[in-house]
Amino acid sequence: MAKQEIRVTVNGREHRSEVEPRLLLVHYLRDVLGLTGTHIGCDTSQCGACTIIMDGQSVKSCTVFAVQADGSQITTIEGLAKDGQLHPLQEGFWEEHGLQCGFCTPGMIMSAYDLLQRNPDPTEAEIREALEGNLCRCTGYQNIVKAIQYAASRVREHEPVAAS
Ligand code: FES
Ligand code: FES
Repeated sequence: MAKQEIRVTVNGREHRSEVEPRLLLVHYLRDVLGLTGTHIGCDTSQCGACTIIMDGQSVKSCTVFAVQADGSQITTIEGLAKDGQLHPLQEGFWEEHGLQCGFCTPGMIMSAYDLLQRNPDPTEAEIREALEGNLCRCTGYQNIVKAIQYAASRVREHEPVAAS
């Protein structure tokens, strides 16, 4: 199948690539760009482990073709820490023990990032609703909610949530 050129900006860096039209965005990020923090946990678009931010909104990157991301701005989990400092969400998952195996964590954090951009002071119910598309088989979710509450208070007190 003929390849198509795409141009995407990922974590502030522009990439131009020739890709097959059938290539999923999650495979582009992991296999072409080597950004393996974005995980693949299912083949039914249900787990949310592959969640990224595309043009300001959270997206399951297994549901998008790489060619559909042409011209877009993408942030992955690798783009959150700045100058060796964890993003408040990453710090929150560390401080509140928001993970066990950690497989779901990148997707959880990117969905929470989307939530805090829209709503810097979410209720517990709003946090749980925002995570509806993300499955965790280990934690029971309680500490994930606490981690996001921790990050929300850090962000409100000290710094904006947005990453470039
Ligand atoms: S890999 Fe499970 S929703 Fe994308
Ligand atoms: S920490 Fe293991 S799947 Fe969430």
